[in-house]
Amino acid sequence: MKTLVVAIGGVTNGGKTTLAEKLRNMLPKCNVIFQDDFFKPEYEVETDERGFKLYDELDALYMDDLVKSVRDWIECPASSVTVTPEPQNTCDNPQNTDDVYILIVEGFLLYNYAPLNELWNKRFFLTLPYEECKRRRSTRVYQPADMPGYFDGHVWPMYLKYKSELEENAIDIVYLDGTKPQEELLSYVYSDIIQELKKLREGNQQVTA
Ligand SMILES: Nc1ncnc2c1ncn2[C@@H]1O[C@H](COP(=O)(O)OP(=O)(O)OP(=O)(O)O)[C@@H](O)[C@H]1O
Ligand SMILES: [Mg+2]
Repeated sequence: MKTLVVAIGGVTNGGKTTLAEKLRNMLPKCNVIFQDDFFKPEYEVETDERGFKLYDELDALYMDDLVKSVRDWIECPASSVTVTPEPQNTCDNPQNTDDVYILIVEGFLLYNYAPLNELWNKRFFLTLPYEECKRRRSTRVYQPADMPGYFDGHVWPMYLKYKSELEENAIDIVYLDGTKPQEELLSYVYSDIIQELKKLREGNQQVTA
C-alpha cells in the first residue's frame, strides 16, 4: 500500500487549518491530523515569570503521541480513511496496490522534532509578515485567550526561533506566502500533491510498503 504523508506547517494564522481542510475535501483517500489536538492540558503547560502560558513550544505538546499517530496511520492507512464506497481492503488484505493513501498533518511545529520530521514525504510552510500575523491573531479567540502582550512576548519570538532553527537545518521545505488568496494557495499545493501522487503511482519513488 502506497502512502503520501504531507506536512503543512508554519506560522500561527498562516492558514494551515483552512488549507488542510480544503485539500481533504478535494483529494481521494485523504486524512488529516491536527497538531492542535496534541496540546497538553492547561495545567501541564509551563507558565513563565510574566504569567504567560508557554504554548508555542515543543514542551506544550505531546509530540511522541503525534509521532505515534502518524506512524500508526502509515502502518494502516486504509483503516482510517473514509471514502464512498467504503474500502473493502484492510492492512492484511490490500486489494489495489496502485492506490495511494494521503495523510495531511497540519500544525505550527512540524519540523523541529526529529522523530516527526523524518516522517514527511512533502513539506510546506506558510509564512506571514509580522503585522498581518498579529492582525489575524487579534481577530481570533483562543482557549485560553491570549493575554495582553502575549503575541509580542511569546508567540512571535517563538515562531522566529523555530523558523531559524529549521532554516539552519536546510531541510527540503516549500515556503508559501500566506498573504496570497486562499484559492491560489490551494491550487498551488493541490497541483504539487497531484504531481507527487503521479510519481508514486509510476513507482519512481521509494514508498512505505
Ligand atoms: N490566504 C488567506 N488570506 C486571508 N486570510 C486567510 C487566508 N487563509 C486563512 N485566512 C484566515 O486567517 C485566519 C487563520 O486561518 P487558519 O485557522 O486556517 O490558520 P492556522 O494557521 O490554522 O491558525 P492557528 O494558529 O490558529 O492554527 C482565519 O480567519 C482564516 O479565515
Ligand atoms: Mg490551525
